[in-house]
Amino acid sequence: MKHLLVTGGAGFIGANFVHYWMKTYPQDVVVVLDALTYAGNFANLDSVSDLPTFKFYQGDISDTHLVENILREHRIDTLVHFAAESHVDRSISGPDAFIQTNIIGTHSLLKAVKKVWLDEGLHRETHRFHHVSTDEVYGTLEAEDPAFSETSQYAPNSPYSASKAASDHLVRAYHHTYGLQVTTSNCSNNYGPYHFPEKLIPLVITNILLNQPLPIYGDGRQIRDWLYVEDHARGIEQVIQKGQLGECYNIGGINEWANIDIVKLICDLMNCEFAENTSLATKYPQALSVIKGNAQELITFVQDRAGHDRRYAIDPKKSNNELGYQPLESFETGIYKTLQWYLNNDCWWRAVMDGSYRKWIAQQYRTAE
Ligand code: NAD
Ligand code: TYD
Repeated sequence: MKHLLVTGGAGFIGANFVHYWMKTYPQDVVVVLDALTYAGNFANLDSVSDLPTFKFYQGDISDTHLVENILREHRIDTLVHFAAESHVDRSISGPDAFIQTNIIGTHSLLKAVKKVWLDEGLHRETHRFHHVSTDEVYGTLEAEDPAFSETSQYAPNSPYSASKAASDHLVRAYHHTYGLQVTTSNCSNNYGPYHFPEKLIPLVITNILLNQPLPIYGDGRQIRDWLYVEDHARGIEQVIQKGQLGECYNIGGINEWANIDIVKLICDLMNCEFAENTSLATKYPQALSVIKGNAQELITFVQDRAGHDRRYAIDPKKSNNELGYQPLESFETGIYKTLQWYLNNDCWWRAVMDGSYRKWIAQQYRTAE
């Protein structure tokens, strides 16, 4: 039986991980520490919040005193670290929060676990710090380049990816220097339920339902490798169970798509859903383009993101060979589940998209001349 501390457990991937873990290991204790920034939402944890094995703390990972007390009080033996500022566009317009949470916050956590696990000796031999990172630390690929492997050189290009790269190095250094028992996973782009609608896939789905433009940065030919979020949770599970201490594992979907193709696919799937299910037009009367069967008319090319990485792709050999890891969801089934989730959970996305987010996003997008 494990006692987990999940940082950032009220965010997109953290909440999906908590659901997956509590379903798979109902005997384990799961404690979530989350600052509930704009991206964190306690409603993401509604379905587990009443379980006796679940506990939630609203707080900052930089609050070392709070983290140490949580570790002691709940006899935490496994920390899964998701908490981060995670949106590249926000890192371009305001990098400070990324340095604070992703670098200084991660270092505060490392200091706290070192103190309690190593210096005080709670679970000295049996602890695990799992750090959740991104493939963006490796920079960008050209069309013909081989996918990123665990030995690819770090070459982060955005303030977001640079801050994640710095946190990866700190985690590695605490293993090498102090013997902290760590693992790291570097994952490709996730999609699925509870994805904050500032990221491409949920933004496109919700904007179709609100009949808003679908902003495509630059030429839309940038490529991402998409993974269903529960498959990411499974990958982290495998690393925690079987990963070698001090090692990094890449987790990906073997599912590369150009942005414009994915946006067109979502438009087509939504057109079909509305054609087959006429009650959707009543539920979403504003969604005029998709009601007409022409969601693609909302596609709008806008100014490119500064320093936009062209392509990400994951070489999954190490996690396949050493952990036996394979994604279970095909893109077809994963994107279908995701569309259904957003169609059925408009209360959730309308609530997270209120005031402040809409104002921020309105300032970001300028239609290309
Ligand atoms: P998210 O932005 O949806 O959630 C981040 C969560 O962290 C939020 O609940 C937020 O409230 C919390 N948080 C932020 N600052 C905090 C702080 N100082 N103290 C405590 N909590 C804080 O992010 P996500 O998409 O769920 O990403 C989770 C992790 O996975 C991140 O580390 C990210 O770098 C990594 N990752 C994300 C993707 C992706 O496609 N989204 C892919 C690979 C890796
Ligand atoms: P995003 O979901 O922000 O993830 P990341 O930048 O971490 O890969 O963006 C995915 C891709 O979609 C990326 O190439 C930027 C592009 N994009 C758009 O073209 N329009 C948008 O409105 C957004 C949010 C992203």
